[in-house]
Amino acid sequence: MTGQPIPVIIDCDTGIDDALALLFAVRHPGLDVRAVTCVAGNTDVDGVVRNTLTVLEQAGAGDIPVARGAERPLIEPLRTARHVHGQDGMGDLGLPAPTRRAADVDAVTLLRREILAAPRPVTLIPTAPLTNIALLLRTHPEVVRNIERIVFMGGAVTTGNATPVAEFNVWHDPEAAAVLLTAGVPITMYGLDVFTRVVVPAADVARLRASGEPRLRLAGELLAHRDPASAADPAPTGGLGDAGAVCAVVDPDGLTTEPLPVEVALAPGPTRGQTIVDRRAVPGEAEIHHGARERPLVDVALGVDVERYVSLWLTTVEKA
Ligand code: BDR
Ligand code: CA
Repeated sequence: MTGQPIPVIIDCDTGIDDALALLFAVRHPGLDVRAVTCVAGNTDVDGVVRNTLTVLEQAGAGDIPVARGAERPLIEPLRTARHVHGQDGMGDLGLPAPTRRAADVDAVTLLRREILAAPRPVTLIPTAPLTNIALLLRTHPEVVRNIERIVFMGGAVTTGNATPVAEFNVWHDPEAAAVLLTAGVPITMYGLDVFTRVVVPAADVARLRASGEPRLRLAGELLAHRDPASAADPAPTGGLGDAGAVCAVVDPDGLTTEPLPVEVALAPGPTRGQTIVDRRAVPGEAEIHHGARERPLVDVALGVDVERYVSLWLTTVEKA
């Protein structure tokens, strides 16, 4: 690594894989985590704040401000993913309550403050529904002048998870995702197409789980919980999930992206929350007859070097 660390802010809904993202981010010397903001998603926002503080404490992170954000999406009701992330939103691992406290400002205020105060433009890494980010962009649009890029986990080119076509973070708050896509700053979409592929092999998960270091055991247990078959599987693998988006900030060359027009389907019905990615080489009849609609170009991740990101994450997290 050369040069100054990249100033980043993570907006998350911790969340098992958000926790894997935080464990990595706070230990990588190339990142300067200036704040962590919390939003309702995998669990309710108070649970997200608690989980986030717990992870930062277990990781031995420095004094990073954490703020509570939106309690629910802009229009939709809160629809948690506790069936995946456990009743406490973080695998029901029986972790102690954190001694750290959240900042006494809300997430939007903290985001504005930290973005504008940063010595260099900040990279935002949302790994959750985009509610806080949309509220920030609408309340304090001046922040874009000090945003380098937004690398968000969300969306899918091919297959969804919350619905056949919609990914959870975008489906949870489609209007907020639409605001993000039109922010007018460079955006990388780290969607399900790459998200699901970055999996830590069983031997590495087992090594982490057997570690004498509480921080590493936590990483191992979180990874093991990521594998849907883990309850029955004596040797679970573990998807890095949201942590892959943070790897993409540290090491963008591990990702293959293409600048493509992306829009979010907002109409009610089976496509709501889908990210429609236009991969056509030439305009179609719609453009010929009605003219081209303006759609922002997004750097969409289409490929990922799995071994590179797994090794980056492991070496960073396991480093003494
Ligand atoms: C996303 O949804 C959440 O459950 C994960 O934390 C991730 O951010 C994947 O669709
Ligand atoms: Ca998440």
